[in-house]
Amino acid sequence: MAKHDSALGLATAPFANAVRVADHLRPVQPVTLLRPHAARRAARFFVENFPGTSMYAVKANPSPDLLQILWHSGITHYDVASIGEVRLVARTLPDATLCFMHPVKAEEAIAEAYFTHGVRTFSLDTIEELEKIVRATNAADDLTLCVRLRVSSDLSKLSLAAKFGAAPGETKELLFAARQAADALGICFHVGSQAMSPDAYAQAMERVRAAIVEAAVTVDVIDVGGGFPSAYPGMEPPPLERYFDVIHRAFEDLPISYSAELWAEPGRALCAEYSSLIVRVEQRRGDELYINDGAYGALFDAAHVGWRFPVELLREPESRARDLEFSFYGPTCDDLDHMAGPFLLPADTQAGDYIEVGMLGAYGCAMRTAFNGFGAEQAVIVEDAPMATLYDEAADETRDNVVRLGARG
Ligand SMILES: Cc1ncc(COP(=O)(O)O)c(C=O)c1O
Repeated sequence: MAKHDSALGLATAPFANAVRVADHLRPVQPVTLLRPHAARRAARFFVENFPGTSMYAVKANPSPDLLQILWHSGITHYDVASIGEVRLVARTLPDATLCFMHPVKAEEAIAEAYFTHGVRTFSLDTIEELEKIVRATNAADDLTLCVRLRVSSDLSKLSLAAKFGAAPGETKELLFAARQAADALGICFHVGSQAMSPDAYAQAMERVRAAIVEAAVTVDVIDVGGGFPSAYPGMEPPPLERYFDVIHRAFEDLPISYSAELWAEPGRALCAEYSSLIVRVEQRRGDELYINDGAYGALFDAAHVGWRFPVELLREPESRARDLEFSFYGPTCDDLDHMAGPFLLPADTQAGDYIEVGMLGAYGCAMRTAFNGFGAEQAVIVEDAPMATLYDEAADETRDNVVRLGARG
């Protein structure tokens, strides 16, 4: 059976694991490894455990294959942030519900989303955006308008606190105005990506409470946004159930009607485990490895925000050398194509070796460019477990070094 990733366009039969791929293909270019079973498991987990509606934040990984996997695993709602994402999801999943959750949109994009693609939910954080939505939809009477509040990103690894969100002094007027224009009124926020503590959501919900009390409006939707974490070296969050418990309790405590809905917009947590990358070491200089993917490829976050993705040397028999801390240079000519890591690999790692860089399903493959003529061209499906997981399931015994954070209390 041939399976393929349509975004990358190449087909091969599934492989047992990354070592087999490296052995079999000896690839000159990086190879993307896809784990549909991991995305399915994450989606099922959210569908079954999140106490509300989980909408996938498409920006984290817009692969049409992934969208199909999530849809068939029960994810029916999609957070889209551009007209390109609206068109992509409308084309790929015609029956999906799309919510346009970027607070600053082109007026033409709003009109196309509303009139051509049936989008009814929009977010906003200013009166100007509200007026724009009203204009672009000809003052439609079936809108769900979500006012985005500015909340702290202090408990998260990547801040989203600066750019968007109405500040406390602005929310009363905005909620009141949005209530007049909306069929359903929502409040949304984003606690920052990779929130390392459920308290991030508890604090944000306090902000929501204050805003509702101050504006004295009826609120129909509470959308707690994204931020749900995944597992990376040095970033081992509590189990997701704890996040869900905190959110559920805070939601139940809000002064809203009993029929109000709870939504979330997970990106990273739904797709981080979906893919990884095989790279080749082209040269070693001391503890610097010159590899064939980097800042302009799938490793943007490793270069630009110092994200430490897990790595593994793909060699058989396994190296017995002790681990050493390495940094990586990517393939382009730029100095900034550098990933400080540190990445722990056997001390005898050398040119010609293949390395798997794990947990690149979110904000990894999605960031790839073809700058300087480099990039991954091939994608294959592998059947082993991802290098780390937050979804504890005995089913994944195929990899003995997998980190199972979900099991911890
Ligand atoms: C509005 C919105 N929702 C959801 C997300 C997804 O966030 P995460 O991947 O941290 O879950 C983002 C990420 O930037 C966002 O901007």
